Amino acid sequence: ADAARVPALVIGSGYGGSVAALRLAEAGVDVHVVELGMSWDTPGPDGKIFANTTKPDYRSFWLRTRTKQPLSNFLGFPLDKDVPRYTGILDAEDFAGISVYQGRGVGGGSLVNGGMAVTPRRQHFGAVLPSVNPDEMYDVYYPRANAGLGVTNVDPAWWEGTDCYQYARVGRKHAQRSAFPFVFVPNVYDWEYMKQEASGAVPHSALAGEVLYGNNHGKKTLVKTYLARAKATGRVTISPLHRVTSVAPAGGAYTVTMEQLDTTGAVTATKSVTADRVFFAAGSVGTSKLLTKLKATGVLPNLNGEIGKGWGDNGNVMCGRANHLWDPTGKLQSAMPTAGIDNWDAGGAFAEVAPLPTGIETWASFYLSITRNPHRAEFTWNAGAGRVDLSWQTAWKQPSIDAAKTIFDKINAKEGTIYRTDLFGAYKIWGDHLTYHPLGGVVLNKATDNHGRLHGYRGLYVMDGSLIPGNASVNPFVTITALAERNIEAIVTADL
Ligand code: FDA
Repeated sequence: ADAARVPALVIGSGYGGSVAALRLAEAGVDVHVVELGMSWDTPGPDGKIFANTTKPDYRSFWLRTRTKQPLSNFLGFPLDKDVPRYTGILDAEDFAGISVYQGRGVGGGSLVNGGMAVTPRRQHFGAVLPSVNPDEMYDVYYPRANAGLGVTNVDPAWWEGTDCYQYARVGRKHAQRSAFPFVFVPNVYDWEYMKQEASGAVPHSALAGEVLYGNNHGKKTLVKTYLARAKATGRVTISPLHRVTSVAPAGGAYTVTMEQLDTTGAVTATKSVTADRVFFAAGSVGTSKLLTKLKATGVLPNLNGEIGKGWGDNGNVMCGRANHLWDPTGKLQSAMPTAGIDNWDAGGAFAEVAPLPTGIETWASFYLSITRNPHRAEFTWNAGAGRVDLSWQTAWKQPSIDAAKTIFDKINAKEGTIYRTDLFGAYKIWGDHLTYHPLGGVVLNKATDNHGRLHGYRGLYVMDGSLIPGNASVNPFVTITALAERNIEAIVTADL
């Protein structure tokens, strides 16, 4: 076979890319996956593959010389520090009005995320993906995604008694005293492993606070689930540390150009491959940036005017509350969240009761809220600067803050407590400068057909979070996975 020609090329190895690679390979198609980040399989000098959340080092950030920790301050002290520039695992990608956090490496966001695996309530699905038949999602593709990802629930009896979920039980007590629905949320963490961490039988991972910069044990990332199955077919090859820069029509197929990087981020080679079909799965930001550039620079001029539009932050906003001395949240906190406060219907907010794994008692409750925020931003090509810009403005977080306040103002009033003002800078209550959940930019049934086929070009597909128009009402990766399962099944059936 011609080494430089592949039947299917997948850009990115997160949720959308992993589903595409597995299902194409199972259908007998050879797949080449191109991934910007590293293959996280080699221990560092401390014997561990991933750095701890409380001790970021060269492995922690994507091509930064200084860390950019989501919680930038603690008790008045800034936490960020200098680190060697390296192709690390977490990218804090700065646009003018927002920093978008993303995983970098084979496995994409599954390497760095909290593992919260939430299926939206069915009554909300029509607002999330209006062109998709909910019956097929809830009967077939959500169950398939949850099974493929290894989603399970914490054992409630164990949860009630373990020190490491004291913070979550305090979160429940305060939610219920203010009459908010408190819900358990599933996760992809191996609960049996966590029980053994708690009993001291195995090395700590979630109980050592590992999450943002990778989990050394316990979390079922895509590397352990979809990508392991994809590799086992023998039809999937993955090229880490390669950045796709162009996809250009070439006589019915496509020339895919990519740069190989070293671990300082320097380009060591430029290569091209001919692919019959290309699956964009570089994430909401990665796919949107690529397609916005390729349309504007005339490489893919027939893409339609919806490219780059409909981007949202899933309404992410963070805050902390200061508890009374009789409500300690515990110095041992599992980094894997298990619960949330659901005030979506009444106030437009679903608040995850999040850990603050500092290793000391903080008397703080910490929350990441997902809110109903109507603002949508657009990616545009900035020819002068040679880059893609995003029109999001920091002030657009105000509806999210207002929604989160429907929960926490009430809890504070009931408990006689106040917001923490030390976590995001001096006297700053709201973490409103970032998102963990970029969604949209290449919206389903607008920039693509109703199954992710890009308009204007046969054989080009979108598989990732860029298809979802800005909000999922809950944490997004189960919906990204289920939508990818739905779309790739239709593509395999009709197009191959
Ligand atoms: P994803 O970002 O996973 O994958 C895209 C891949 O493409 C990346 O590996 C990237 O390096 C690669 N890429 C980008 N550009 C490229 C290029 N030009 N060439 C080649 N490769 C390229 N969600 C949830 O449901 N529950 C949770 O608990 C959390 N928690 C959470 C915490 C943190 C800190 C973050 C950052 C995120 C979360 N999330 C989450 C969000 C979740 O991780 C996210 O929604 C998914 O990873 C998105 O999946 P995609 O397949 O769209 O892209």
